[in-house]
Amino acid sequence: MYIENVKKEMKLPEKVRIFDTTLRDGEQTPGVAITPDEKIRIAKRLDRLGVDVIEVGFPAASLGERKAAQEIKSLGLNAQVCGLARVLQEDLDAAIDSDVDYIHTFIGTSPLHREYKLHMSREEILIKSVDAVEYIKDHGIIAEFSAEDATRTEFEYLKEIYSAVEDAGVDVINVPDTVGVMVPAAMRKLIEDLKNAVNIPISVHCHDDFGLAVANSLVAVEAGAQQVHATINGLGERAGNTSLEEVVMALMVNYGVKTNINTELLVGTSGLVSRITGVKMPPNKAIVGDNAFAHEAGIHVHGVLQKAETYEPLKPEMVGHSRRIVMGKHTGARAIRSKLDDYGIEMDEDQFCSLYDQVKKLGDKGKTVTDADLHALAETVIGKPKEEKVKLEGFTVMTGDNVLPTATVKLNIEGKIKTAAKTGVGPVDAAINAIQSLVMKIAEIELREYHIDAITGGTNALAEVFVIVADKEGNSATGRSTVEDVVMASVEAVLDAINKILMER
Ligand code: KIV
Ligand code: ZN
Repeated sequence: MYIENVKKEMKLPEKVRIFDTTLRDGEQTPGVAITPDEKIRIAKRLDRLGVDVIEVGFPAASLGERKAAQEIKSLGLNAQVCGLARVLQEDLDAAIDSDVDYIHTFIGTSPLHREYKLHMSREEILIKSVDAVEYIKDHGIIAEFSAEDATRTEFEYLKEIYSAVEDAGVDVINVPDTVGVMVPAAMRKLIEDLKNAVNIPISVHCHDDFGLAVANSLVAVEAGAQQVHATINGLGERAGNTSLEEVVMALMVNYGVKTNINTELLVGTSGLVSRITGVKMPPNKAIVGDNAFAHEAGIHVHGVLQKAETYEPLKPEMVGHSRRIVMGKHTGARAIRSKLDDYGIEMDEDQFCSLYDQVKKLGDKGKTVTDADLHALAETVIGKPKEEKVKLEGFTVMTGDNVLPTATVKLNIEGKIKTAAKTGVGPVDAAINAIQSLVMKIAEIELREYHIDAITGGTNALAEVFVIVADKEGNSATGRSTVEDVVMASVEAVLDAINKILMER
């Protein structure tokens, strides 16, 4: 494979450390606030997931942040517990008081930050950074230093400040692409150049403003970075940070680089973070999205059913996901048959053609057919009587808040077309009353039971109606229909039951 040849030319590390910042940069996602209790739940989960560092928050920001940090630290997790701090005494003290193992200290270094935010000279910033690192190390705490907006900082100055903090004893230098402006080639060169300038581990922190956070993190690893900052679901300021699940799986599968992540927990962790933060993942989100391992197209499904690798780059179980075959207009007969086999449903060729037809028609209307939908459609097809003495020719209903619900139903009864209009408490009741009056001569029927279900929820879901109908002679039959319109489903279900009664006579 081409990629294998390219990889041979790379000097890749065996392992990369994952610094998780879901609880800090992730919490800076607009509209997201995580309570201390929720932070503890997420931290425990991140620890099980196997991240190396958990940045639990910004202790100087509030009492709640400090308490959460202390409580997380007291859990005795395997991961190192880190607090963020500006290079300011009060921030550093707040982090130290939180009892964290690790302090991530930072200051803006780019001309924009120096001039407009900090109003400080290069020298002042450098001195403060060195002082902060020395202070952290004097307290026996692991120190990571970030030159905020590093990727828009003059390279000579960046080298100078990182070398200065290295001399001050910093453990890791982090290179933030604060506003996500890097492109992969530039990121590779930047990390290579910094590698030649310092002799300590390099970490990267990429933002996703141009959708390049994962790509930039990966090239940083190619260039020698030993640690990647990431967040679950790619949460973070503005467009977010490097998505942990994406970068970890790309490192593992595409590069063959290990991390300590227990990848089977990725989907569950993504779900937990999504529920707590209220930030839902789009279905097409890589690795953890609902559609990440869903197949609809007929050709793809055929391939996947023969050998999953034809259309899957990794096994869904590796990330705690599962494969889903979605029925729609691209779905082939083979995929539907395979689903029926899974459900243990047998049907003859005519029944199968009718089911296949319904799936295609729904697909043409822009719908997908879920497993539950297909199951219900199949049950309806199987239950249909072979012979229909009463056939629906058409119906209309009129309803509203100021009109009496009225239905006009046209039936073909043993070859004769008959029409009736009736009222009812609602359109379904009116339609069933009209049917009763039309079939009166051949069967005096009454509705014994009526159930309706919206199979997959939502107002445009398939409606499944189940009825029990009885005649005066004491014969009864069940009827079922699954279509999108509730009145249509009700009419079809009642006619289904009537035809069964007539067939039995
Ligand atoms: O994006 C950024 O620059 C940050 C810093 C605090 C490292 O999040
Ligand atoms: Zn950030």
